[in-house]
Amino acid sequence: MAERPQDAAVDTGHVYDGIHELDNRLPNWWLLTFWGSIVFAMVYWFLYQSAGILPSHASVFQEEKAAWEAKMLAASVTPEEITALVADPEAVARGAETFTTYCVACHGPDAGGKIGPNLTDKWWIHGGDPVSVYKTVSNGVIEKGMVAWRPTLGDAKVRDVVAYVITLREHPVEGKAPEGKDAEGNAAP
Ligand code: HEC
Repeated sequence: MAERPQDAAVDTGHVYDGIHELDNRLPNWWLLTFWGSIVFAMVYWFLYQSAGILPSHASVFQEEKAAWEAKMLAASVTPEEITALVADPEAVARGAETFTTYCVACHGPDAGGKIGPNLTDKWWIHGGDPVSVYKTVSNGVIEKGMVAWRPTLGDAKVRDVVAYVITLREHPVEGKAPEGKDAEGNAAP
């Protein structure tokens, strides 16, 4: 009869309820996995975390974040491009639709302002010229609660909604008190 594993095991002398505790020699595949994973973890830690020979998750994240931010800042448009969309009723209509879906919650249905400022007066916190409005809508003002819309909506929709916002400019509706400065740099009353 073949030797059973427990026959070769060391009896620890511990007995509980008539059951003997044996100290079996662990199978090689188990020992290999056990020590192998420890060695792997140490090598991994050394390469990726401690010596920095290979990029850590944190550094990969920082790199991707920097690339994303650079892409955001590179978002650019000329005043002429927006002016052309303002003159295109279809683009303005598309922009109005986007505004109704995404912007009214904070800026109000007539853009008179709620959580966000009134977009219909001539005073702007971040500038009311086409390029400034485009930049505010694209990159947002995260710390004030204005979303960066370009990653969600894409550039084309942002351009259309900016064109729509430009058509609202200086057609003031009742709403939130003016904030910011006008084009001449005078502070809002
Ligand atoms: C979650 C609320 C919220 C939503 C949704 C939102 N905004 Fe805003 N928005 C704000 C806040 C708050 C500010 C003011 C930021 C500040 O004080 O610097 C702002 C500012 C702005 C400004 C700059 C106003 C100025 O005076 O310079 C523009 C333009 C603007 N939003 C357009 C939009 C458009 C277009 C959308 C929809 C695509 C939108 N916002 C959706 C909250 C929002």
